[in-house]
Amino acid sequence: MAQDIEHVKTPHGERAPACTLVIFGAAGDLTKRLLMPALYNLARTGLLPLNFALIGVDRADMTDDSFRAHVAQAVTAFASDKHYAQTLQTEHLDRLLGSMSYLSADFSDPQAYAQLTARLQQADKEKHADANVMFYLAVGSRFFAGIVDQLGAAGLVQETEQAWRRVVVEKPFGHDLASARELNKQLRNNLHETQIYRMDHFLGKETVQNIMLMRFANGIFEPLWTRDHIDHVQITVAETVGVEQRAAFYETTGAMRDMVPNHVFQLLALTAMESPASFDADAVRNEKTKVLDSVHVLDPLRDVVRGQYAAGARNGEPLKAYRNEADVSADSRTETYIAMKLGIDNWRWAGVPFYLRTGKALSTRQSEIQVQFKRPPFSLFRDTATGALQPNTLLIKLQPDEGAMLTFGAKIPGPRIEIGQVHMDFHYKDYFQNAPSTGYETLIYDCMIGDATLFQRSDSVMAGWQIVQPLQDLLAQRKDAPLSFYAAGSQGPEEAQQLFGDSGNRWRSLA
Ligand code: BG6
Repeated sequence: MAQDIEHVKTPHGERAPACTLVIFGAAGDLTKRLLMPALYNLARTGLLPLNFALIGVDRADMTDDSFRAHVAQAVTAFASDKHYAQTLQTEHLDRLLGSMSYLSADFSDPQAYAQLTARLQQADKEKHADANVMFYLAVGSRFFAGIVDQLGAAGLVQETEQAWRRVVVEKPFGHDLASARELNKQLRNNLHETQIYRMDHFLGKETVQNIMLMRFANGIFEPLWTRDHIDHVQITVAETVGVEQRAAFYETTGAMRDMVPNHVFQLLALTAMESPASFDADAVRNEKTKVLDSVHVLDPLRDVVRGQYAAGARNGEPLKAYRNEADVSADSRTETYIAMKLGIDNWRWAGVPFYLRTGKALSTRQSEIQVQFKRPPFSLFRDTATGALQPNTLLIKLQPDEGAMLTFGAKIPGPRIEIGQVHMDFHYKDYFQNAPSTGYETLIYDCMIGDATLFQRSDSVMAGWQIVQPLQDLLAQRKDAPLSFYAAGSQGPEEAQQLFGDSGNRWRSLA
């Protein structure tokens, strides 16, 4: 096993230190859509190292020049995308392109690693990358162990006091508890835990990081953040996109594995964890793991609703059924939506349900956390026209509308006692200049400066899989496990409301 060496950390906000970034899967979709735009943004904001080399590795037959053209096209498309729209600054793009080269190789071929070794030496000589290397595995998880074994055999992940070697792996990390454990074991044959950066790009989103700040940098929320005051919490990650071109991946993955043990559980952990001793990587990750360890393991029949989108429409435009998407089997039972109810067995949260839902092809793109507070203990106004008092809610709006909203009752002016629901609504854009970001910028930069706070540690990944393992078992045993169909463009299956039982609560409506 590799030796754990502690390297000097660059302070946040300063330019990252010299390094070479090696991207496995450089011709793939992730590199094109997310990594290259993120690197461009790092160049634009002055955070990309001055001494920087990028080596793209993939099977596709490309030259350095055609790779650069491919990247230029990706960054240009990104800059004009309506979510990120910005003026393309060619000097930054040119600098990024100038740092790049391409190695056409088969990941399983030892010869590729000999070639890579030579390329890395060249990068050190020509670009003064100082032998620091970040290996980014933008490939299917089935390739992770093989690539890391080869990197190990070629001596490429061996750190020295002066030079770091780090490996970023994309999600999903394994496909269940056993495979995640096995993958971890394989990676650890060649890497120390501190060299492994398990990517969850949700943690790079500003609004997701803000959950911690909102809770722990303000005095007013934490005293209320307990079972004494909170009725329940709803976490929603709703998407409008369908499966797009990813059926080969999605058919065997489904909404649960794609989103829940990683993105959605990270949101849960940030919402429910105790205050860490500091914002140091291990202090934060200790608390996240601790709270995930306290989550009830699911009852897959009682606590879960799985759905799949059928044909539907949005704004009058017809939408295909999942089963009619390219490369999807005509009788597929893969879920494209999942909702679940979880409980947390600790003193802060005992008895407070956490409802989670995520799905594709829904009516709107909306990611948010709604904390619903308990109703007042009795109604002073019961003999008036106010009717039942509504509960207060705090809505943490993650995307695309970023902000927070507190809802409470106020007297409607007039001679009668009537209460109306009003909102204190904070929008990021009203206060801060929002730099266009994919969420990957923060994480690539953090890896370069050696801050693992926003990456998943192995114990928290395992805790996530542990919670959903019974559902995995059920799906492995029963091909006819319950699946509800919902119209594409709708709010998801009506059955998801059943998770609230007779509590009188419902899912917050999607816009
Ligand atoms: C990815 C999932 O991790 O996250 C995708 O694999 C999903 O299926 C995506 O669409 C959502 O991320 P974002 O940043 O677009 O909300």
